[in-house]
Parts: sequence; C-alpha cells; structure tokens
Amino acid sequence: MKFPIDRERLSRELEQLAGISEMTPPAVTRVVFSQADLRAREYVNRLCTEAGLALRSDAVGNTFARWIGASPELAAVGTGSHIDAIPNAGSYDGTVGVLGGLEAIGALQRGGFHPRRSIELLIFTAEEPTRFGIGCLGSRFLAGLSAAAGESLRDAQGQTLNQVREAAGFTGALDGTRLPAGYYSAFVELHIEQGPLLERAGVPAGIVTAIAAPAALRLKIEGEGGHAGAVLMPDRRDALLAAAEIALALEKAARTSGAIDTVATTGMCEVFPGAINSIPSRVQMTADVRDTDEARRDRVLRQLAQAITETAQRRGVRIEEEIISVDAPAICDPAIVGVLEDVCRSQGLAYQKMVSRAYHDSLFVSRFAPTAMLFIPCRGGVSHRPDEYASPEAIAAGSAVLAEALAKLSLLS
Ligand code: HGY
Ligand code: MN
Ligand code: MN
Repeated sequence: MKFPIDRERLSRELEQLAGISEMTPPAVTRVVFSQADLRAREYVNRLCTEAGLALRSDAVGNTFARWIGASPELAAVGTGSHIDAIPNAGSYDGTVGVLGGLEAIGALQRGGFHPRRSIELLIFTAEEPTRFGIGCLGSRFLAGLSAAAGESLRDAQGQTLNQVREAAGFTGALDGTRLPAGYYSAFVELHIEQGPLLERAGVPAGIVTAIAAPAALRLKIEGEGGHAGAVLMPDRRDALLAAAEIALALEKAARTSGAIDTVATTGMCEVFPGAINSIPSRVQMTADVRDTDEARRDRVLRQLAQAITETAQRRGVRIEEEIISVDAPAICDPAIVGVLEDVCRSQGLAYQKMVSRAYHDSLFVSRFAPTAMLFIPCRGGVSHRPDEYASPEAIAAGSAVLAEALAKLSLLS
C-alpha cells in the first residue's frame, strides 16, 4: 500500500533548509554547532514538533523525534540522516534522509496508519568530518565512542568538543550517549547515491547491501625552509615535495589494488609558510582511503606507511602519521534489504542492489541495530558541490518506499 508523499511540501522544506547556510544558495555550508547548524536544527525540530513527534537530544546533539506506537515498550523502528554540510556543499546530502524521513512519517499519519512499534526519526550530529576531523561523530557516540576519545577532539581554533557542544546547549555526560544493542528493531537511512550508477542505469532506487570501510589519516611533514633563491637544490629538504611524492604513492596504491572499489584521496594539504619565495618547511596533509574489502583497504594503508618511511629517508624530512579513524565495513541486514525489495516491487519501482562507497551514519548504527540504506539517484552522481541535485520525483519515490518499509517494519513482532 503506497502512502502519498506531499512532493511540493517536501521540496519546499528542502529548499528552506538549504537556505539556512553560511553561503548563498545553491552552495551550502553548515558546519556542526555553527550558527547555521543551530538555526537548521531549530527549523527541523519545529517541523518534528508540528508532526506531533516526541523530541529529545543527547549530550552531543543527536536529536530523536519519536512517533509513539501502540506498543511503546518494543524496540522502535528508526530512520534518519544528517543536516550538517561540508563547506561549499549541496542541498541534498543528508537532508533528503531527514526531511524525506519526516515526510514518510507524515504520509503514514495522513494515511491513517497506526504504528505498533514506535517510529523514530534520528538527526545525527556531525556526520561530516569538517569541524573535528572525524566523520560520523554523533553516530560513533551512539555506537559506543568513549567520552575520553570525544574529549580529546579539538577544532581548528583549538576549541574542545565539550566547549563547543555546551556552548550550543548540549550538556550532560558524553558517556550517556551510547544506545544499547537492540535499541532499534530496524534502521533505514534514505540518502542520495553521491555517485552516478543509478542515473546511468536509469534505475530510481538503490538498495544498499554494504557500506565501504573508511580510513582517515593526518600526516605532518617537517622539512627545512629557506630562501627560494639562495638554497641550491641538493641542499633542500622541501616538505611539499615530500608530500607530493606521498600523495602520488597513495594514488598508485589505490589504482593498483586489483579492484575498482579501492579509492584514496589527499583532500587537504596545508603548506607553511606558504610564500612564493620560501621553501615549504612544514606541510599538514590528509589521506582518505576506502574499500568495500577491509583487507584490501588495509593493504593500501601499509603501502602508504612504506611510502612515508622511504620518502622521509630519501628526502631527509620527518613525517608523523596520525590515524584519525580506521573503520570496518558494514553489511546491511538481509531481512531489511528484503523488505525494501518487496516494497519496491509492490510499488512497481525498479531497483538495483549496490554498495555504498560513501560512508554514512548507518555504518555505525549497524554496530548496534539491524540496518539498511535506500539510495536515490543524484544528477551526474555529483555531491559535496553546490550543483548537487536530486529531482522532486526521485526524492518522493524514495520517501514513498521508505514510508511503506517503515510501516511494514513497525508491524513486525
Ligand atoms: O565522506 C563521506 O563519505 C560522507 O559524505 N561524509
Ligand atoms: Mn557528505
Ligand atoms: Mn551524507
């Protein structure tokens, strides 16, 4: 049974949320606990309250909006995603899963559905690594990240997570954020694919079977600065050229892994002193390595470590490697995958099973609850850019599948 999605309303809400940003739309910047993020949270919380959902937030800002079911003592069915956005991002990454999830609940309410298990919309805090350098911070806490690990995090201004979250009004002990195994009987996240496969195949729905294993590292390279004119080439210990060699070695390790699923990116590279006529003495760079196969991903990490050792020796520079996060992949719950397949079939919606190469909060929810993801196509596979786009039709179709899947999961004993 399909529950009608209010496409116009959903588009309006997505547009409204996209306008709450530190940049002029269509570019979106909404870094966790920034003024834009706090305004966006207010907006979404208001929508949830208007939908009659019971709201609460935890100590790190994860927000739970619950539609109480007939059997509130049973584990709830969860859905949700994130509303924070990296600098110069788009309007749909994360927000489709939050507002599409809310609209799915609204469609069930308008359709006269009565949930047995409560249905809960979860808005994760800090899915993006922008502020504290680590992705999925909110869902990591739900999955058991220790308070000590959280308290060690600092932003670029040296502010601690506790200082920033408490200033934003999220107090309380970080220890209390962990959710017990079985907190959800099922969790489904709706998200744009952030890749081109669904659009290329002309398929409106992707049912995710696995989420790739991400790893993030920070490298600090210490060479020797000096005058760009006076220091002869044999006497140099140029930190940026060492970084360049390591970036190319990282690319080579990913390209020669034997599988197309291995990806690696040097996304940040800060050069000091950063003057045209001064030899770079210090560089801070990052590495982001992902693969659906954990052992293959770890092989790339070992090759990176080897390249670091060799480059340091050859170039006479000191290189410090800091592992920010190294996570296992997630296998999506086959029973929930089956429910999503049944609903797509019953709604006559073509779908394909696929892997998520982007990481998502579902990666960490899967540590404590049966989890799956539903993808919708985005134009050209573009994401993390202002021209990121998903059509109202695609978003409505994904929300309609989500609505019926949540209904089915809510009635399961
Ligand atoms: O980087 C990611 O995979 C996610 O979009 N934060
Ligand atoms: Mn993202
Ligand atoms: Mn996302």
